[in-house]
Amino acid sequence: MGSGTFQCNAIVEENRELRGNYRLMVVKSPEVAGAARPGQFVHVRCGSGTVPLLRRPISIHRVWPGEGRVGLLYEVKGRGTAWMAGRKPGETLDILGPLGNGFRLAAGERRLVLVAGGVGIAPLFFLAEAARRGGRQVRVLLGGRNREMILAEDDLRQMGIPVEVTTDDGSYGHHGLVTGLLAEVLEREEVDRVCACGPQPMLVAVTRLSVLHEVPCYVSLEEHMACGVGACRGCVVGIRDAFGNISYRNVCTHGPVFEAREVVFDGA
Ligand SMILES: Cc1cc2nc3c(=O)[nH]c(=O)nc-3n(C[C@H](O)[C@H](O)[C@H](O)COP(=O)(O)OP(=O)(O)OC[C@H]3O[C@@H](n4cnc5c(N)ncnc54)[C@H](O)[C@@H]3O)c2cc1C
Ligand code: FES
Repeated sequence: MGSGTFQCNAIVEENRELRGNYRLMVVKSPEVAGAARPGQFVHVRCGSGTVPLLRRPISIHRVWPGEGRVGLLYEVKGRGTAWMAGRKPGETLDILGPLGNGFRLAAGERRLVLVAGGVGIAPLFFLAEAARRGGRQVRVLLGGRNREMILAEDDLRQMGIPVEVTTDDGSYGHHGLVTGLLAEVLEREEVDRVCACGPQPMLVAVTRLSVLHEVPCYVSLEEHMACGVGACRGCVVGIRDAFGNISYRNVCTHGPVFEAREVVFDGA
């Protein structure tokens, strides 16, 4: 655990349904808010009994450093996130973080395209906000199976960030896959870096397109995790070097953000 990582009992200020199974929780944690970088996550203890579940990793979606607040955008999937959904304002949430490497952009990378599949917008929102504040050009491509999975669109637009939306079923935005939109953008525009987070098939397609157009690309991976701090090796991913040799890295400590072309995706 790094010196900039804290374990704290954050106070829940807000925990509301956005739509369907998606929720936004805002907690007060000046330590995490002050130290967090885009792409990092917190490990949330989901239970208060003597036999708690393993912590669950949730990306840092937003921070308000001046107010010491941290926003978490999450999907209720199973026991852990259902427990999170039951937390009320005023209660505490045991979080460990910020963890992971986060996105590191070079000074010359001015034109960014961020590609989010569903709740994959969670870490990319923080990146979009920080990159925009740093004077970079940012555009966000949001994709989902249907309208319910398109999250954070209004907040991005309010920050003046251009957003384009696709849904697989055509219920909102362009009809089709978000990678179709990315292909069009990469055909017609100069882009310095693509950053993506979402389901693995989407990340594989984003990686292929970025390699084809010779645009550097980062992907944020959402492997299953246990300890979250590099001790159990429960979250490894294959990384291929320039000579084709594969080594295994922890998503929790070496990631969750990796250079896309180095990742050995399942079945690849
Ligand atoms: C670095 C990182 C950041 C993440 N950030 C977010 C975030 O910001 N918002 C968010 O909603 N989710 C995020 N996730 C995924 C989140 O951690 C899982 O959805 C959560 O742990 C599920 O816990 P649970 O107890 O509710 O469900 P479980 O009961 O553990 O699982 C329910 C179902 O979800 C599947 N599942 C569990 N974990 C994962 C996973 N990591 N990837 C894919 N499927 C999984 C299980 O196989 C099972 O089918 C992140 C994961 C990682 C590794
Ligand atoms: S979750 Fe234990 S090493 Fe990554």
